[in-house]
Amino acid sequence: MNNLWLGIETSCDDTACAVLLETENSAEILSNELYSQIDEHKAWGGVVPELASRAHLEKIVPVVETALQKAKEKAGVELADIGQIAFTRCPGLMGSLLVGANFALGLAKDLEIAAYGIHHLEGHLAAALLNQSLNPPSNGVSLTETPFSPPVFSARRADEGNLNPPNLAVNVNTSPILRPSLEPPFAALIVSGGHTELYLVKDNFEYVSLGRTRDDAAGEAFDKCGKIMGLGYPAGAEISRLASGGDPHFYEFPRALQFSSLRAENATRNRKADEFLETMANLHKEEFSFSGLKTAVSRYISEHGEKFVQENMPNICASLQEAIVDILSQKAVTAAEKAGVGSLVLGGGVSANARLRELLQERCDKKGLRLIYPQKELCTDNGAMIAYAAILRKRKGKLEREVKVKSWNPLAE
Ligand code: KG4
Ligand code: ZN
Repeated sequence: MNNLWLGIETSCDDTACAVLLETENSAEILSNELYSQIDEHKAWGGVVPELASRAHLEKIVPVVETALQKAKEKAGVELADIGQIAFTRCPGLMGSLLVGANFALGLAKDLEIAAYGIHHLEGHLAAALLNQSLNPPSNGVSLTETPFSPPVFSARRADEGNLNPPNLAVNVNTSPILRPSLEPPFAALIVSGGHTELYLVKDNFEYVSLGRTRDDAAGEAFDKCGKIMGLGYPAGAEISRLASGGDPHFYEFPRALQFSSLRAENATRNRKADEFLETMANLHKEEFSFSGLKTAVSRYISEHGEKFVQENMPNICASLQEAIVDILSQKAVTAAEKAGVGSLVLGGGVSANARLRELLQERCDKKGLRLIYPQKELCTDNGAMIAYAAILRKRKGKLEREVKVKSWNPLAE
């Protein structure tokens, strides 16, 4: 069937596969399976590339088989019905990407269908466009007339407070009719473990970079600061969970490349110096920097002692989270405004963060911007987002049979 897609994602530490039924304006997720390698990597405090490739090799067949089985149970479709395959070809860990790409290309050859390599970050963007109905615009205007009943999800690590045990291939979807996508141009903020990117997304999949991190990604900041605080790996969802019971202004962690923060840190009260700092901050307005947070957290712990930190963990997590989401939301809204667009799309693993969504919504509302983000279960890596990115490209006549695997490949120059 020409409208049946298999989406495969293996760019990092998740082996994921989804079956999507392309509909006139959107897509229906028939299955969305995932094997999370968190347990394999936990002991090392981060992803070990060689272990990741081996786990992908071991799990790709069972994950794909389960996705197909679930799609069969739901819609009666078979492997032979798959019309095309989309897989992540960049960016990511080379060994991990190669497992997914080779599997996809081999299967496509066997089925005599096409396989399309997709950019992972475009997948994160597509995830937000896959289902806008859970996030109606704050002015109450519905995007479409399509009747909608919320899907029932069993989520994994992205979902705060609704965690399945990791390391299981879990069903992350049974979804009804999904809604059509927002049309470009719009601004996009992609925040994940490996990326923090601000784009202007123009029609026909042209991307203009509006800003990016100069060092650590936002998710990396959560994970590395969490590691310093002894919170395990990955720490984003755990920090967010702990932060919900804490005071975000308990301690003001530094906001890098932000004028008010630069001034507060330097406390010059000198007009010339302030002017200089303002110029510097303006120069880097849409650039992020999160690497200093690791030093700030380490210093905070050594100054206050382990006992104090343990006793105040929710407050410290809330303060750290606030520092990250404050700067993300402030710069994203400024960039969207400057780009002259009416909508901001949020995507990537960190977009599961409830406080980031809340603060962005607040700031978008103030500027009359519409905010669109993925349903929680589609924030972190999954196969559905890859298949949907291919569907969106196909609609614009921009789907190419690019299969070259690359560990890094910018979406925008
Ligand atoms: O998109 P993703 O699954 O993988 C990459 O492409 O990197 O993102 C994973 C990142 C991790 O850094 C993880 O800590 C972070 O997303 N993350 C969160 C939350 N859930 C996942 N960060 C903050 N709050 C969350 N609720
Ligand atoms: Zn990702």
